[in-house]
Amino acid sequence: MNIRNISCITLGCFVLLLACNKKEDGPLKNETPVFNPIPLSVSYPSWVKIYSGQMPEPTDNATTVEGVALGRKLFYDKKLSNDLSMSCASCHKIDNAFSDPRAFSVGTNGAPGDRNAMAIINMGWSTKFFWDGRRPSLELQAHDPVTNPIEMRNDWPSVVSRLQSDPVYPGMFFKAFGKTTIDSNMVTKAIAQFERTLVSFNSRFDKFYFEGDTSVFSDQEKRGKDLFFGKADCNHCHSDAMLTDHAFRNNGLDASFTDIGLGKVTGQSTDNGKFKVPTLRNIALTFPYMHDSRFTTLEQVVDFYDHQVKTGSPNLDVNMDQIKNGLNLTAQEKLDLVAFLKTFTDSSFITNAAFMQP
Ligand code: HEC
Ligand code: HEC
Repeated sequence: MNIRNISCITLGCFVLLLACNKKEDGPLKNETPVFNPIPLSVSYPSWVKIYSGQMPEPTDNATTVEGVALGRKLFYDKKLSNDLSMSCASCHKIDNAFSDPRAFSVGTNGAPGDRNAMAIINMGWSTKFFWDGRRPSLELQAHDPVTNPIEMRNDWPSVVSRLQSDPVYPGMFFKAFGKTTIDSNMVTKAIAQFERTLVSFNSRFDKFYFEGDTSVFSDQEKRGKDLFFGKADCNHCHSDAMLTDHAFRNNGLDASFTDIGLGKVTGQSTDNGKFKVPTLRNIALTFPYMHDSRFTTLEQVVDFYDHQVKTGSPNLDVNMDQIKNGLNLTAQEKLDLVAFLKTFTDSSFITNAAFMQP
């Protein structure tokens, strides 16, 4: 118990005690917030730049300590949803590398969506968002879930007025953006800043492959690595330090499409059935798999690439040439490949206190 609280109690002054507590929760009553944001440079290993370049940052939304703190609070805040029941983190769970273990996330009205909630990992290097790439920035992406009728089901004026009447938020917005009058763009800018800090490059794969520590892999994982980069040809699309080339491709899941993916966004039939190549980072944690969550295990995914690719799929990607007619992996090779995929898990990512609910 600190001295201030003791003096409150000895005085027997309940009102004073309340005032003491209030000080701890919010800004000091007469505190004038200062606008002097501290630039924050997101740290990641130097080899990332060699393979995938420096993380780009929008010129109108530089990452700052204050912006990230605000974005983190907003990401976990249920005030964003209509009935105060759901935050971004309700569907993007840290234990699952910010994805949803449910096949389809459920909105605040209890109805399921129609695609798997994607993992939020190394998003700063991505330039098109959602499975179909319909949003060109993290800032614009973050606008959508709030008003989506199968997600948070809210409207921006309600969100803004809730935040505006909160004892803490106006001061935080001022510190991050120099304005106390909140608008939706400030909300999404802050969330995007927080998302840019969610970097994951500390898996055993990274130690082995990029940092040259061959002792971290078992023989089985080494065999799996050789398959991934060789006979199974996975890294044609799941490539570079990101384990994705960020392109939109058709990997032959279906011969005809119920969800046309990129085709709906571009209006081009040659884009039908193309979806964002997802990162394989933390893939053991981001089940179920594919845009429609059709596979629950990595073994099923490997079986699919091994012998279930639909060669008649319109727009089947050219990078599937080596895979499409069957990989014919042995049972042992399949186990080896799965063991290797599990080396992409970065446990420091999902236990990073800076990423958790503030
Ligand atoms: C009800 C569940 C749900 C909520 C709440 C939700 N999301 Fe999502 N999120 C999804 C789903 C599902 C997708 C994929 C949808 C699609 O592709 O059409 C997605 C996709 C994304 C992506 C795209 C990732 C990529 O690789 O392109 C980002 C980023 C993201 N969400 C961030 C957020 C943020 C920020 C919030 C809060 C403002 C939020 N989400 C709230 C379910 C949810
Ligand atoms: C032609 C490019 C391409 C190649 C080659 C490729 N993939 Fe994929 N992969 C994709 C695309 C695109 C998706 C998403 C498809 C969808 O949901 O419609 C995907 C999805 C996945 C997923 C699910 C990810 C998630 O978050 O749901 C896993 C796991 C995966 N691939 C592993 C592999 C493995 C293992 C190999 C090698 C055997 C491989 N991929 C080869 C393009 C490719």
